[in-house]
This record gives sequence, structure tokens and C-alpha cells, in this order.
Amino acid sequence: MSIRLFEGKEHALYYWKYRISPSQDIINIILTFLQKHRSPPFGLAVDVGCGSGQGTVLLGPHFSEVVGTDVSPAQLNMAMQHSTAHNITYRECPAEKLSMENATVDLVTTIAAFHWFDHPCFLKEVDRILKPQGCLVLLDYSIIMELSYGHCSETLNDICKELYAALMPYRNPYLGDSSLDLYKRTYNTLEYPVKEWHENLWVRKTVPLSHYIGMIESLSNYQAMLREDPEKAKQLSLDTTERLVKAMGVASEDTEVLLSVRYYGLLACKP
Ligand SMILES: C[S@@+](CC[C@H](N)C(=O)[O-])C[C@H]1O[C@@H](n2cnc3c(N)ncnc32)[C@H](O)[C@@H]1O
Ligand SMILES: *[C@@H]1O[C@H](CO)[C@@H](O)[C@H](O)[C@H]1NC(C)=O
Ligand SMILES: *[C@@H]1O[C@H](CO)[C@@H](O)[C@H](O)[C@H]1NC(C)=O
Repeated sequence: MSIRLFEGKEHALYYWKYRISPSQDIINIILTFLQKHRSPPFGLAVDVGCGSGQGTVLLGPHFSEVVGTDVSPAQLNMAMQHSTAHNITYRECPAEKLSMENATVDLVTTIAAFHWFDHPCFLKEVDRILKPQGCLVLLDYSIIMELSYGHCSETLNDICKELYAALMPYRNPYLGDSSLDLYKRTYNTLEYPVKEWHENLWVRKTVPLSHYIGMIESLSNYQAMLREDPEKAKQLSLDTTERLVKAMGVASEDTEVLLSVRYYGLLACKP
């Protein structure tokens, strides 16, 4: 079983506008791992569950061809609208039934999407399409994001913690209690002998406070709350914004803050 969300046009736009991409440091960790096992030039990379393509485009300069796949036409449209590289293309196909031929792929990446898939089916597909010594990268990030601003960072993060707690009951049951545990379990059970686990890949970016709120509103649990109780969801977002603005002592949510996002996940190499 897998879960299909994030497919609306509106939601795809939120993704494009507010989601934080992996840093160049993370891309370098992936490329270094890949280089240890395969020698360049690298042929084909596939980014599964690519959404609006923020991660996909970062692979472009390092591969002769990059394909982003997703089940959502709205997300793929958003990705195509913003695509400039000639060697990046997008395809609609489920993670559990990828359209690539056997043993043709150098690298499979999945960013903040694996937890929605049918995990065993997807891993079987990955094993089928990877070349020998091809690599798999499964990344996710914690929704516990941190804000820094002047001397009030602690107060801001207390407000954010309340926000995360309010969203917790709307977590999709398919995800279980902890995505971190799912990725760790997958790392421990994956039958590829060469693998690495990373738990603290911090990505920091200066964004207007309003973008942090936009990022929160793009999360599946916020979207679930919005469907169930629109008034409550909108009020939560407004109240949180107001409290953060007040704590910062600024005039508006256009003020920039430092947003820190913690990525974690695994890198593995097929024998
Ligand atoms: C949280 S988004 C992550 C998007 C992007 N990788 C990023 O880092 O921003 C999850 C994406 O996975 C896609 N997705 C969910 N289930 C899928 C499946 N079974 N096969 C392929 N894509 C799927 C959704 O449509 C969505 O675009
Ligand atoms: C793929 O496209 C990117 C961006 O245009 C470019 O930097 C890269 O060299 C291309 N790769 C190949 C092998 O042509
Ligand atoms: C591709 O791989 C699958 C599973 O690994 C296998 O069952 C199938 O026969 C292979 N197809 C071809 C054309 O080699």
C-alpha cells in the first residue's frame, strides 16, 4: 500500500514556493559516496517522488541524464514549468512501478517521499533498475524546524514547538509514530553491504518569516487539519504568525529569519 497526497495544484504551488531544497553540502555527500563506488561520468539519476523538482535540478550538472518521477501531474507540471536544463525530464509513474529498464540507473534519490511509498515494493524496484554498484539515497527532514532571530530564538522555538504539538494529531496514520524510525529501520534491514547513515544534515537558509509559515502550511498534517477544520487551521497559522512577529518585536512577517532544517537518511550501494 502507498498513500497519495500532495496532488492538488494549490499544494504544488506551495511546494515550489516554500519547500527547502537540500544544500550543496548534501549533494556533495551523495556525489562523494557515488564516486567511491562508480567512476564518473555518471549516466542516469532518477529522483523518485520528485514533487516540484527542487532536489531533482541539483543533480543536473553531475549526470548526463536526470529523470524526476512522481504520481502527481500538478507537481510534475510545476517542475516542468521551472525546468531549464535540457538533460532533466519528468515522468508520471508510481514509485512501486518505475518505467526504467533493468540495471540502467547510476543513482536513485528520494527526498521526503519514501515514507509515503509501499516500502518493500519500492525497494524491489530500486534493486531492479540500479546498475551493479549503483547507489540509493533515501533522505527526509524533520518537521521540527528551528528559527533563529537576534536574541529571541529560544522564545521563537517555544512557539514553534506548540505549533508542532498542535499538528501532531493530524499526522497521517500511514506514517506511524516516527519517520526517523522508518528510515533507520530501512537502513538496518537493507541488504546492501555498503551503506552510510546520516542523522544531522542541517540545512540553513535565510527566509522571510512568512515563508516559514508557508512551509508549515505545505506539510501533510497541516493540510489534513485544513480539510478537517479549516477555521482552526487558519487560526493556528494566524496566531502563530502573530506570536512570532510579536516575540521578534518587528512590524511584519516579511522580516527575515534563519530557518534550520535537519535532514537525515541513508546512502547505500547495490553489490
Ligand atoms: C513531501 S513531497 C516531496 C517532494 C520533493 N521530493 C521535495 O523534496 O520537496 C512527496 C512527493 O511524493 C509523491 N508521492 C507520494 N506517493 C508516491 C508514490 N507512491 N509514487 C511516486 N510519488 C509519490 C507526492 O506526489 C509528492 O510530490
Ligand atoms: C546537464 O545539464 C546541466 C545544466 O544545463 C549541465 O550543467 C550539465 O553539464 C549537463 N550534463 C551533461 C552531461 O550534458
Ligand atoms: C528485470 O528484472 C526482474 C527482477 O529483477 C526480472 O524478473 C526480469 O526478468 C528482468 N527483465 C529483463 C528483461 O531482464
